[in-house]
Amino acid sequence: MHIIETERLILRSFREGDAADLFAYLRAPTTPCFLSLKLADLAEAEIEVGRRALDEGSVAICLKQTGRVIGDLFGGGEEGEEEDTASVGWNLNPQFGGQGYAFEAARALFDHLFRAKGFRRLYAYVEDHNTPSQRLCEKLGMRREGVFVEFVSFTNDDAGNPIYENTMQYAILRREWMSGALAMEQPPGMSGVAGAGTRCG
Ligand SMILES: CC(C)(COP(=O)(O)OP(=O)(O)OC[C@H]1O[C@@H](n2cnc3c(N)ncnc32)[C@H](O)[C@@H]1OP(=O)(O)O)[C@@H](O)C(=O)NCCC(=O)NCCS
Repeated sequence: MHIIETERLILRSFREGDAADLFAYLRAPTTPCFLSLKLADLAEAEIEVGRRALDEGSVAICLKQTGRVIGDLFGGGEEGEEEDTASVGWNLNPQFGGQGYAFEAARALFDHLFRAKGFRRLYAYVEDHNTPSQRLCEKLGMRREGVFVEFVSFTNDDAGNPIYENTMQYAILRREWMSGALAMEQPPGMSGVAGAGTRCG
């Protein structure tokens, strides 16, 4: 992906040198849906950074002030996308939570996915107990479209039985984003995408 700059952040692809920062928060994922991303050590983190570096839909969130990777976003990669619809998500190092960084980063990513990549619809799956992520979806103007009861399981209980999650789906359409207050100001000379549903870039 090309580099996106916001007031306090740089969004860019993962690259060599990011392993320690990624390991800092993926050594102990704080939410069940990211447990499968748990990294055992720095060597595993280096392999994961290499994998992410090749994934167009994987975005490192870097703090401008320090250059440090403080979390990541996903959305708009080739894998698993359905034509003009993309699944989006976020994961911040908890040390950097509660400062508006996730919102600042996701807002810029949404604008990029709608404007430059031409996605028509973005959606996010959020567990019913994950209120910080639900708040973020709502601040981004996403609509809660439904709750899938006992949709998925990421962990087992002590007896080995799956613990099922109730999963909400949030979504927003390109036309809603473009007519809303969060769409970012366009640099002069840029006219956005050729037409809804067109994936360029
Ligand atoms: C979900 C997650 C990304 C939300 O992160 P966050 O830091 O709470 O989200 P935001 O960037 O929107 O920041 C919001 C908070 O920053 C505060 N804030 C402080 N300074 C701010 C600023 N300059 N601008 C905006 N908000 C600011 C807001 O008041 C708000 O506080 P509140 O939550 O108490 O109301 C984070 O909790 C996370 O990574 N969780 C683990 C992974 C996860 O669950 N991912 C989602 C799976 S569905």
